[in-house]
Amino acid sequence: SDRYCVFGHPIGHSRSPRIHALFAEQCGQAMTYEAIEAPREDFAGAWHAFVAAGGLGANVTVPFKEEAYRVADVLSQRARRAGAVNTLVHGRDGRTYADTTDGVGLVRDLEAHGVTLDDARVLVLGAGGAVRGVLDPLLAAGPRSLHIANRTAEKAVSLAADFQQQGYVTGGGYDALEGPFEVVINGTSASLGGELPPLPDTLLAADGVAYDMMYAADPTVFLQWASARGARTIDGLGMLVEQAAESFFLWRHVRPDTGPVRDTLRHEL
Ligand code: ATR
Repeated sequence: SDRYCVFGHPIGHSRSPRIHALFAEQCGQAMTYEAIEAPREDFAGAWHAFVAAGGLGANVTVPFKEEAYRVADVLSQRARRAGAVNTLVHGRDGRTYADTTDGVGLVRDLEAHGVTLDDARVLVLGAGGAVRGVLDPLLAAGPRSLHIANRTAEKAVSLAADFQQQGYVTGGGYDALEGPFEVVINGTSASLGGELPPLPDTLLAADGVAYDMMYAADPTVFLQWASARGARTIDGLGMLVEQAAESFFLWRHVRPDTGPVRDTLRHEL
């Protein structure tokens, strides 16, 4: 059957094999999807070896998203702007096609939760690779404004400058941060260490939504903070499933129904 995989280092905790197995079963696709720990210093070698062994496509996670960008022969426009990719496709012509589906995944999950981005004042926390990867689809969703706040203010300012053509986007530090925003998205890795950027109590609009790109069995500190201030909270599990569905579509040209898969994963957390 057709072979796919996810590359990472480490990769043991990845939920992607589970998600794609559920998609394949649901859509009746004869395929396998395995987790491969590529060596840190030779991602390109791992991808080419996988293709030589019959591999048709892959997801790419930390720390290889930029490496995967360099391995690609053909990049989608949003991938070029993101500077990193999470999906590789081995083309019939032998070339490697690459795309990034994280941003579409985020926007689709917000839509699935009934959150309106159109004309909203949106705040994104963080200015690292994870945020760069979602800005293009976020701006395409038509927010009134998108502000990026980051611990290192200069990184937010320069990231905003890179996306000037895509919409009204600004950047700065946490000290000057002032609400209200209808949608606040946490894209920092601070949640991993149970930390929280310094946020003012006035951050969220009355009916504001707080979204964390991370997820865990228990709410992240950011979502706990937002919840305590009356916001509606959503974690990144749905984004994970939606970005996977978009990758699956690029490989199989079939769109899985994500709702049931998200529910299954939620129960397994
Ligand atoms: P990723 O791929 O997850 O985006 P990254 O590129 O290293 O990883 O970016 C991590 C992001 O989380 C950055 O925006 C970082 O802020 P700095 O640019 O100032 O380093 C942010 N971050 C990490 N730990 C944080 C903390 N404890 N408080 C606030 N921001 C934090």
